[in-house]
Amino acid sequence: MAFQIPRGTVDILPDEVELWSWMEEVARKIARRNCYQEIRTPIFEYTDLFIRGVGDSTDIVEKEMYSFLDRKKRFLTLRPEGTAGVMRSLVENKLYSKSPLVKLFYMGPMFRYERPQAGRQRQFHQFGIEAVGSTDVALDAEVITLGMDFFAALGINGVRVEINNVGNPEERKNYFQKLIEYFEPYENELAADAKGRLYRNPMRILDSKDPRTKEIAASAPSILDFLSAESLQSFEEIQRYLTEWKVNYIVNDRIVRGLDYYTQVAFEYLIDLPGAQASTIGGGGRYNGLVQEIGGPELPGVGFGIGMERVILALKEQKITPPYPTGIDCYLIYMGEKTKEKAVSLLRSLRQAGFIAEIDYLNRKVKGQLKAANRENARFVAILGEDELAERKIQLKELATGNQEKVELENFIPYLQKKIVKNGA
Ligand code: HAM
Repeated sequence: MAFQIPRGTVDILPDEVELWSWMEEVARKIARRNCYQEIRTPIFEYTDLFIRGVGDSTDIVEKEMYSFLDRKKRFLTLRPEGTAGVMRSLVENKLYSKSPLVKLFYMGPMFRYERPQAGRQRQFHQFGIEAVGSTDVALDAEVITLGMDFFAALGINGVRVEINNVGNPEERKNYFQKLIEYFEPYENELAADAKGRLYRNPMRILDSKDPRTKEIAASAPSILDFLSAESLQSFEEIQRYLTEWKVNYIVNDRIVRGLDYYTQVAFEYLIDLPGAQASTIGGGGRYNGLVQEIGGPELPGVGFGIGMERVILALKEQKITPPYPTGIDCYLIYMGEKTKEKAVSLLRSLRQAGFIAEIDYLNRKVKGQLKAANRENARFVAILGEDELAERKIQLKELATGNQEKVELENFIPYLQKKIVKNGA
């Protein structure tokens, strides 16, 4: 019996990996340009970290974690998100003692037991950034802008960012009370999951997908009416920075993030992806209590996580490809054993000169080799026959134009270097 891939996971096949590598390259470039350093933490952590960090009344902790006992009966969980693990590492390695402001980024797989659909998987990937150690709201604006710069650098159109201020725990306490009072008369009309949240996390009701619950939630009080003057002022300040940096944002007081650690600003990047219900391409916010919550010092933080599968969907939808050729530069074709030796030696020289070069390893006739070169989208084929070898020459053919010329063997590589540079590759 042939095996099948587990539900909710996908293979990223070689053709698509080109797009992934480019996207990752752009993410690294944008993160480094903003002075974020890469960090790599384990795929699994002790389960308690996520219960404490992400919050025990969240969907993630309640029903989406991949948890298991190891052989020594320790509770472990495949990371459902990146922030908690990065904060654990920051505390454990005292990264804050080297520098009062720590700016980190990461990329990698995350795991959530969700119902799979386009853009929603059980193993998915995030590009995330975290800045820890400052409450300066210019940093919030930097984080929000960095995500937008990433989408722009990839050439993706139509991403919008919606921002909210979800308040601090004190402000939220009053708001929660008002929300409960508002929703209580409708208790029996709320969807089952919303009903279950009424007393535990009423803000999440605002996030419900159920039509009737949504209708009821539309007139619920706004968090923005429960913020202190100070919180409102800092929220306005972020907006001033965003305006200054020409980031188009929308204030949306219904944004509720699915994780418990947020305080103050929270935001989501959205894009319309036909066929995919999930249009949130990323999200983040400030989390001023998280580091302390997981046993570290009182350090404020802000960051985001961007769903890389959703970025790939957007790239494909908008027919965006890497801005450099990814195919073979030169496919070497030989005619018979005598020329093979020379061709093999040329192959190595081509590769050492930096070209993407290939040769036939399947003992194919010239016609078969040419077919392979075409199939693999080679830009040039270089044909070495016995006549050419005797003349110390090689035939060079550009497949797209059909242009063909004979080149001195000793000039072959410099010639190709000129050709490929001249053509802008
Ligand atoms: P999150 O909103 O849970 O935030 O996830 C961030 C992004 O990951 C989502 O907007 C979405 O694009 C992507 N994503 C989430 N679940 C899936 C899934 N099942 N399949 C595909 N993509 C998915 C966080 O994870 C926070 N750690 C972000 C953050 C960092 N906040 C502060 N720092």
